[in-house]
Parts: sequence; structure tokens; C-alpha cells
Amino acid sequence: MITLGGQILQSGPDGHATIRPGVVEIAEDRIVGVEFGNVPGTVDHGDFDTLICPGFIDTHLHLPQFDAIGAAGLRLLPWLREVIFPAERCWNDLGFAQAMIDRVARQCLAVGTTGVCAYATVAHDAAMTALKAFREIGFRGVIGQVMMDRDAPPELLRPPEQLADEVARTLEQFPADQRMAAAVTPRFALSCSETLLEHAGSLAASHGAIIQTHLAETVAECDAVAQRFGGRDYLDVYAAAGLVTRRSIFGHGIYLDSASQKRLAQLGGMIAHCPTANSFLGSGMMNRHSHLSRGITLTLGSDIGAGFERSMVRVGRAMIETAVRVSMDAGRGVDDSAWIPTAAQAWHQITAGNAEALGWNDSGRVAVGCSADLLVIRPDTPWLDSPQPLSTLMFAWDDRWIKTTILRGRMRYSSASAS
Ligand code: GUN
Ligand code: ZN
Repeated sequence: MITLGGQILQSGPDGHATIRPGVVEIAEDRIVGVEFGNVPGTVDHGDFDTLICPGFIDTHLHLPQFDAIGAAGLRLLPWLREVIFPAERCWNDLGFAQAMIDRVARQCLAVGTTGVCAYATVAHDAAMTALKAFREIGFRGVIGQVMMDRDAPPELLRPPEQLADEVARTLEQFPADQRMAAAVTPRFALSCSETLLEHAGSLAASHGAIIQTHLAETVAECDAVAQRFGGRDYLDVYAAAGLVTRRSIFGHGIYLDSASQKRLAQLGGMIAHCPTANSFLGSGMMNRHSHLSRGITLTLGSDIGAGFERSMVRVGRAMIETAVRVSMDAGRGVDDSAWIPTAAQAWHQITAGNAEALGWNDSGRVAVGCSADLLVIRPDTPWLDSPQPLSTLMFAWDDRWIKTTILRGRMRYSSASAS
């Protein structure tokens, strides 16, 4: 049994996070007790000023792109061609991929990420290696072998039947009901023939898998999709292949008209909002309020490596900053609370909010029965004296405050031993 003591971050039913002092008890991989009140001096980790927080969940990131962060000055499609495809080609070398997967996993733990919805590359062995490594460490989540059969260098393309077979194998070995599962991951419509999209749709249906892809990130991409698919609506290209389901996560979704927004809400697909990536590539600013008001479920993701912030706290902050700018641009000003998430809502989003959207009922919360995926955080600022402690933490955030990252009850990162 391990006991953690401090200010416990919990999510209220209203989509806000709250903090109260107390003690968390962990046995094996689960939280077995949460008691509020004072913080006794006998806990294993923490004290009154410590924040005990659920591990963060990043719902959109690309593992092979961690070393490509910061390649500035290109819009999406040239960036993919000139920066990302060469980076992803390196994963055809399994030794290279393996070393990078270990390094990326450590980087995730160091910023408090314990749950991921991640893309690997088209290389089957590397995707399997990533799934095994992340499962072994104890991460929650999905990783997908990227499916692409057109419009990239030949080393990154595979025939659709080969991809269907390989992805089926990932789904058999990492089924949807497991803590670490394979995802069906067609890169985006421009990388896929209709045959490949159909394979992806039927694989997802037969295995009940999460689907990850990109949707309407830039105007040039939307134009290219319209041209390639005979003027069809972008969302419809995916829907026709059975790829718009309650378990679909669409990265970005900036440029959706109201008909597509309504259809997406009806079909239940999620949009992974990626505010840092959207600004880094100059793709645009997603209007979060507009999506929410039409009933679309939103998650939040770092989108490394278009996104440049590994830390979900910083991505949460970028979500707030983007909402402020969108609201000002819309002439609403900064006082319209319907448009601008609070820090408490952002903390909720990167923990329980993302977990709930994905149906991960035992993740993202400090509650009895939940998986013990927890962070022990020691801010070096008098945050509890602030009139808005969670806002102070989010805007003054320093990754070095994370002292311990616990996955399934086991300490997997400690700042004391970080090199
Ligand atoms: N669209 C298709 N592939 C990608 C990718 O790797 N990153 C981003 N941001 N958008 C994409
Ligand atoms: Zn992406």
C-alpha cells in the first residue's frame, strides 16, 4: 500500500476540476481509498502544498515526430512532404524506432502524460514495438499503425491488402478492451485510396476499435480533398467508408461547415482540438465554442510534432488562449464565459474530460476503483495562496514541478532520478 497526501485534484460533474486536501491510498494498480480532511505527516509522498493529480491524457500525438518538433515556416502539406515523411521513414529501421520509442515514452512520463492516443508510422514492426513498449510501461491508450497507400515516398506506402492484414494483426494482439489497444489509423483522406479507407472502416467495425485520422486542418487540404474526391464533402468521404463512429477521433477539425458539424455531432465522432499545432503550422484557430454548441464532443491533444508542447498543461493553456483570441475576433470580447474555458475546465479536459470522451471510465480521476495513474506535483510557488490556484498553476507551470509519475500503482518517473 502506498499513501499520497496533498491537495487532490478531482473533477466535478459540471466539467470543472476542484482541489481539496486529503489522502489517496493505492494497492496494486488501483486507487483503494480517497479521504478528505487533513494531510497526516505519515504519507509516503506529499504534504499540504503538494498537488495529487490524475495523469494527463493526450488524445492526439505522433510518436515518430518527437524529434521533428519546431520545423517552422511551412504549411501543412509541404511540412508533411519535407519534414515529416523523412522523419517517419527512419522508423523503417526497427532499431532506430525502438530506441526512439523508449526515449519518447520517457519524455511523456516526465511531463505527466499517462494516457495516449498515438500514431506510429506505416511500419508494422515499429507499431507493434511501440504497442508492446507502452503496454509494458503501463500507459493507458491506443497506438495505431498508420495506413497510407498514396501520395508519399514509396518507402512509406504499402498495398491496401498488406495494410489490412498488418493492422488486423495489431488489433488481434492488442484488442479494443485492453488497457493498451491498437487503433485503426488511416493518416488522412489524401494519403488513402478509397479501397484503403474501406478496409479501415471494416477493420474498425469488426474489432470495435478506436479510429484516428485527420480532418479539415487547413484550407489547402480541404480543397485538395474536394478535388480528389469529386467535390464530395470531407466528412462524407470518411462516413462513406464507415469511419465516422462514436469511437472516431478526428484531429483538428477547424474547417467544418454547420452541416458537417451537425452530422459529426449526430454520428458521435470526436474532434481532438490541437491548439498548439494549429498555430505552429498557421493552419487556423478552431472555434471551440461553435463545435460545442452544435453538440460535438471535444478532446485535447498535443499533436507532437506539429504541436511543440509535450506538456498537456501547456496545451490546456493554449486552448484557453486560443478561445480568448477567437472570442475577440468574433467581437465577443473576453467576458463571454460561454466562449472561454476556465483553468478549472482546462484541468478537467486534460484529465477526466479526455478520459470520459474516450470511454476510459477507470482513468483520468482520483477515485476509488480507478487505475492508479497519478502525479505528485510540488509547485515552487505559493499557489494555494492564490485566489485562483488552478489558474496560477496552469499559467506558471513548470514541468520540473512533477516529482513522480505513477502508472498502475508503480512509480515510473521520478524527478530525483531524472538525468
Ligand atoms: N495530416 C496528415 N498527417 C498529419 C500529421 O502528421 N500531422 C498533422 N498535424 N496533420 C496531418
Ligand atoms: Zn496529427
